[in-house]
Amino acid sequence: MAKPKAKTPPVPAEFLPKHIAFIMDGNGRWAKKRGLPRTAGHVEGARNFKRIVRYCKDIGIENITFYAFSTENWKRPDEEVSKIMELMREYLVEVRKHMTENTRLIVLGDKSAFSPDLKNGFDSIEKDTKDFKEMTLNLAVNYGSRHEMVSAVKQLAQQVKDGTLQPEEITEETISNALYTKELPDVDLMIRPSGEFRISNFLLWQSAYAELYFCDTLWPDFSAKDVDQALIAYAKRNRRFGGL
Ligand code: FPP
Repeated sequence: MAKPKAKTPPVPAEFLPKHIAFIMDGNGRWAKKRGLPRTAGHVEGARNFKRIVRYCKDIGIENITFYAFSTENWKRPDEEVSKIMELMREYLVEVRKHMTENTRLIVLGDKSAFSPDLKNGFDSIEKDTKDFKEMTLNLAVNYGSRHEMVSAVKQLAQQVKDGTLQPEEITEETISNALYTKELPDVDLMIRPSGEFRISNFLLWQSAYAELYFCDTLWPDFSAKDVDQALIAYAKRNRRFGGL
């Protein structure tokens, strides 16, 4: 029998998305409004990330993905980049302390660009949580969809060169399996708070049929109530996947 949910979702379980992707936008503006440095916005954004993970788990969402650092975010000032790295380090320590959560952590992105301690920290958490089944939490770090696709094309080209793959054998499945998200279902619902209406190079292949949800709340203020509103809106959408 399925485990009872810690909290009741706002819609019946059969109307819940299997995979939600969050773009955590608006940290800088949240801080500016309060006369604080941008880094304070990321601190509050990271706190909120943990609250939203908790809530999604409590209502029974099986896969959640958060855009924590893009391939383009290296262009930000050093202080801001360092703060985000520090928050990720702290988070890894917390995950270690709560290994009983039965949550699998997967990193989507090119980890080779990170300092060895962070890269090793991500690698070991991925390894140590790989059999956890209640929820999969994906952290997109140094992630960009185009970069991901380029690396998938290179992998497949190499296999063709080696003679282990024929060009005519390449299917949508072959491509999906060459992406960071190979073990995940496609995104059902993509949420971007903060009043911006774009998806910023995030999960472009995986969101081909995702429902998009935008709202004005800045990420640090995005609450469980906002998740509920997105889920209610999602449950009302008529998903046709190109059919009638
Ligand atoms: C976008 O808001 C946010 C980011 C580029 C970074 C998000 C990172 C975190 C919330 C911390 C990650 C840490 C963990 C543990 C997951 P913005 O700064 O571009 O906001 P703005 O558009 O208002 O300037």
